[in-house]
Amino acid sequence: MSASTKLPVSVDGIPLGKEHIYAQEPILSGRNLVITFGRVVGLDGVNVDLYPGEVLAVIGDNGAGKSTLIKCLTGAYAPDSGEITMNGQPVTFKRPQDAREAGIETVYQQLAVIPALDIASNLFLAREERRAGPLGSVLRMLDKGGMKKRAGEAVQNLGIQTIQNMGQAVETLSGGQRQVVAVARAAAFGSKVVVLDEPTAALGVKESGMVLKMIKQLRDNGLAVILISHNMPHVWEAADRIHIQRLGGCAGVITPQSHDMGEGVAIMTGAKKLTPNDASA
Ligand SMILES: Nc1ncnc2c1ncn2[C@@H]1O[C@H](COP(=O)(O)OP(=O)(O)OP(=O)(O)O)[C@@H](O)[C@H]1O
Ligand SMILES: [Mg+2]
Repeated sequence: MSASTKLPVSVDGIPLGKEHIYAQEPILSGRNLVITFGRVVGLDGVNVDLYPGEVLAVIGDNGAGKSTLIKCLTGAYAPDSGEITMNGQPVTFKRPQDAREAGIETVYQQLAVIPALDIASNLFLAREERRAGPLGSVLRMLDKGGMKKRAGEAVQNLGIQTIQNMGQAVETLSGGQRQVVAVARAAAFGSKVVVLDEPTAALGVKESGMVLKMIKQLRDNGLAVILISHNMPHVWEAADRIHIQRLGGCAGVITPQSHDMGEGVAIMTGAKKLTPNDASA
């Protein structure tokens, strides 16, 4: 285990003016998370805390362990060792559905939309609504009209104009539009935590702007958001704190106020080491 894994505790920067957020108990925490894939170290003992009402960005080079970290936190991977807690209580998510039931919605980097289904069906995937009365309870008939209407409302609430017809098959959407559907689903159903792995990677300027706005809205509504991104301007714009992954470990946690983008990238690549003196608090 590298020494860097011990850093976040001592150098955690707290954004100025947001001390009340960090005085709360974290909604989601990982402690000493370790996962290996054969001889590849995915995570070497990573600590992470996520607070309600914050956007925590996770940055790092390709293969640094960003996706692995959120997969361990959201039930897609089972860590070899370490502990995950929600509101201080230990939790074990055996599959993503368990995390979802606990209020954590995740958009994984490999998009989980089903191309052959329409947008409304994708939004309600695995939580389909049935028709009222015996048609739903006995015949298990889906409330397609209701889902389409609510899907339209969800997309509209996000201010998304690129998608007009909720009955359109997702396979006919552009890559960016598919990503918007996945993000809209997470935003509509995440009740405590929303995790977005590269949500703006395939998006144009306008759609990226909307997703960033939505992320800030979720945060302002008291949700906790994890944002993984390679886009440093997006990170510095939307994040309250920035967790830097490097070679399977955490190289430190900074804030957009404590470090500029250049310094963040230098820590990410190992050109600069984060020392306790760098703490922003
Ligand atoms: N299921 C798996 N099987 C084998 N190796 C894996 C698996 N999942 C992740 N890894 C390895 O763990 C390391 C971390 O991968 P991860 O996907 O977390 O990187 P990342 O930081 O998300 O990178 P990127 O920016 O490219 O998305 C890599 O070396 C990767 O090959
Ligand atoms: Mg990744």
